Amino acid sequence: MKRFLIFLRDWIDARLPIVQAWDTHMGKYYAPKNFNFWYFFGVFSLVVLVIQLVTGIWLTMNYVPSEEKAFASIEYIMRDVEYGWLLRYMHSTGASVFFIVVYLHMFRGLLYGSYQKPRELVWIIGVFIYLLLVAEGFLGYILPWGQMSYWGAQVIVSLFGAVPLFGDTLLEWVRGDYLISGITLNRFFALHVAAVPLLLVALVVLHILALHTVGSNNPDGIEIKEYKDQHGVPVDGIKFHPYYTVHDLFGLTIFLFFFCAIVFFFPEFGGYFLEKSNFEIANPYKTPEHIAPVWYYTPYYSMLRATTITWFGLDAKLWGGIVMSLAIVLLFFVPWLDRSPVKSIRYKGWASRIALTVFVICFIVLGYLGLQPVTEGRTLVSQICTILYLAFFVFMPLYTSKERTKPPPARVT
Ligand code: HEM
Repeated sequence: MKRFLIFLRDWIDARLPIVQAWDTHMGKYYAPKNFNFWYFFGVFSLVVLVIQLVTGIWLTMNYVPSEEKAFASIEYIMRDVEYGWLLRYMHSTGASVFFIVVYLHMFRGLLYGSYQKPRELVWIIGVFIYLLLVAEGFLGYILPWGQMSYWGAQVIVSLFGAVPLFGDTLLEWVRGDYLISGITLNRFFALHVAAVPLLLVALVVLHILALHTVGSNNPDGIEIKEYKDQHGVPVDGIKFHPYYTVHDLFGLTIFLFFFCAIVFFFPEFGGYFLEKSNFEIANPYKTPEHIAPVWYYTPYYSMLRATTITWFGLDAKLWGGIVMSLAIVLLFFVPWLDRSPVKSIRYKGWASRIALTVFVICFIVLGYLGLQPVTEGRTLVSQICTILYLAFFVFMPLYTSKERTKPPPARVT
């Protein structure tokens, strides 16, 4: 048997270099030996992506993308399809958990300057992945055809209508109808199950290929490739396999423990993962009293609601859309906005530390406020947080270049 397997491996390898690929990405990929807790979230994101793809395929087998049957087909999956409830809860929990792990993964990037040279492209591909994830979550949320699916889509899609001159035409083109209807549901379904996942998987592959070309950063933000032994092996690196595969499997076990706990015991997560009003079928004649998107969009939703300016005679809604888009687009420029001579927050100065802390607090406060009904006071706090959020990026060239940094060590600590 062993001889046959070796023969098979060599036979394939002569035609498709799988051994070389394994060595490049696992067996002889040297990763810094000082990875910490924050380095688990890339792998977790990868695992959640697989969970979403697999459960999504199985859900599609029984889901019906039509205005008349969508809601009922979800009920059918939950009650009659064998283990349908498990597939659905894994998928709905997976959506929220995906954002949790990706937000933490991005935070790690900001913490250790993983976007700085030579990893700019790894970061930029990451931001594209994030954009696709935002789109994927939004498209998927309409599919159960509940009240919040309908009205959430209504709020976001109507933003296109605020575009000057051709807003109405654009709005009609996106919906495929004069209002959100079964036609909109159909196209969102096609995009959610085929177009966006394909792009997402392609970008994740590129993300990892780009990372493995330049090598991983680490909590000290120093380049391990600069210190190599006589065999050309980085002295501060260890082989990804078996060291990090075992290490990641350990982290993954704990992660999956929590994931399963949510799936089995708190799948609605107090209305944050599955909103209560989405258990009611979509009704175009009944606007819910309080429309709030799922928690992972609420920071941007707060920004939208907090934008009340009508400069140049343009609609506040349009400015809101611009602010929301800017909040994400600015991420693309971080590799060039950060002018610090060091990568990791460990060696950056106080200004960077305070800026990152304020940024994270604002993001969380905006997220919280986006879930609450509007009041004058809350709008004011949202406006302050939106300004501070944007200021984090806008003033980055200034505070990162002016502050006093500590000299990073030559070797990992
Ligand atoms: C589906 C989503 C994603 C997946 C599956 C994914 C996967 C990974 C994996 C497996 C790694 C290597 C392990 C690690 O360093 O944690 C990695 C590294 C990295 N990712 Fe992602 N990622 C995703 C989204 C993002 C996003 C949204 C960003 C940023 C906007 C990003 C930025 C980075 C950076 C900068 C690195 C290098 C980190 C370093 O070396 O310190 N990723 N990613």
